[in-house]
Amino acid sequence: MYKLLKPVLFAMPAERAHHVTTALFGFLTQVPIVNGLISRIFAYNDPSLVREFWGLRFNNPVGLAAGFDKDGKYIRAMSTLGFGFIELGTVTPRPQPGNPKPRLFRLPKDRALINRLGFNNQGVDLLVKRLKSFDKKELIIGGNIGKNKDTPNDDAHEDYQICFEKLYDHVDYFVVNLSSPNTPGLRELQGKEPLRKILTGLTSFRQKQDVYRPILLKIAPDMTQGALQDVIDIVQELSIEGIIATNTTIGRSGLSTESTKVADMGNGGLSGDPLTARSTEVIDYITKSTDGQLPVVGVGGISSGAAAKQKIDAGASLVQVYSGMVYEGPFLIKRIKRYLSQH
Ligand code: FNR
Repeated sequence: MYKLLKPVLFAMPAERAHHVTTALFGFLTQVPIVNGLISRIFAYNDPSLVREFWGLRFNNPVGLAAGFDKDGKYIRAMSTLGFGFIELGTVTPRPQPGNPKPRLFRLPKDRALINRLGFNNQGVDLLVKRLKSFDKKELIIGGNIGKNKDTPNDDAHEDYQICFEKLYDHVDYFVVNLSSPNTPGLRELQGKEPLRKILTGLTSFRQKQDVYRPILLKIAPDMTQGALQDVIDIVQELSIEGIIATNTTIGRSGLSTESTKVADMGNGGLSGDPLTARSTEVIDYITKSTDGQLPVVGVGGISSGAAAKQKIDAGASLVQVYSGMVYEGPFLIKRIKRYLSQH
């Protein structure tokens, strides 16, 4: 089915194809009978797939990565595809348009994407409103939070705090995103002092709440080993529950796409197959450095069951996909689950 649809979608600019597919799918899955049918087609449950972390029960370890449904517009639609968890966002306190278009590009020869969307989103209040009206039942939902582009780095902690507090009663876990390459200066916040400032604000709010929400930190794949170790040290010092490894890379090495074409696409984060090995390396480093004591969510270039298994073998407790779905279609989720339950 996706084999037929893919050429049509790939004939459109990448961002438009994303909007057309999600809007159409969102519309179809509003019809209860269609929703039920699609859910049945994509269902694959096996007790061996169940995972428990941070007091949360995941029906399976395969999640939707952040950025696909930034505003929580398609929670119902995405929940039919059999994910064990869905991460919404990145959301910022105020709505913002993101970078000028075009800002999303396909590299079919590399089964990759380059994006510089720049946290385009409708703001945290609208996300909260949508979450309130969604009866989530068993589905685990994460809230991935960021800062507005025009908020100076010195005040960034306030943006994270606003999103955290507003979303606290409406998501199951949080992701602090300091690793997008498309918000100028954002990745500098992965440094020791800014990181500590942001995270302590969140943990002190959390201490005063009745319910304990896990906080994960999403990191870039482009850090030096020393910088990565600093991040791990702070995460452990502040009892942050885990790391999501990794976001997109600013690197362009090893691509098959002609270098002039890649240069024409311009700046942005590269995702998909060329990221697979590097993100697995980061997972492996974190696992070894923490004796496997810190849960890691593995993301980056998972486009098959075997690629998901490699991340798990490197120490990932859960995995997420984004670009792989663009190239393989939504059945990828079921294929990964089947592979993991059989290997
Ligand atoms: C992303 N990603 C992303 N991550 C994040 O934390 N917040 C975001 O808003 C976005 N937005 C976004 C948009 C687009 C178009 C892409 C392709 C990616 C990164 C994503 O969640 C993931 O970490 C990387 O894409 C690596 O995984 P894949 O795509 O190789 O499976």
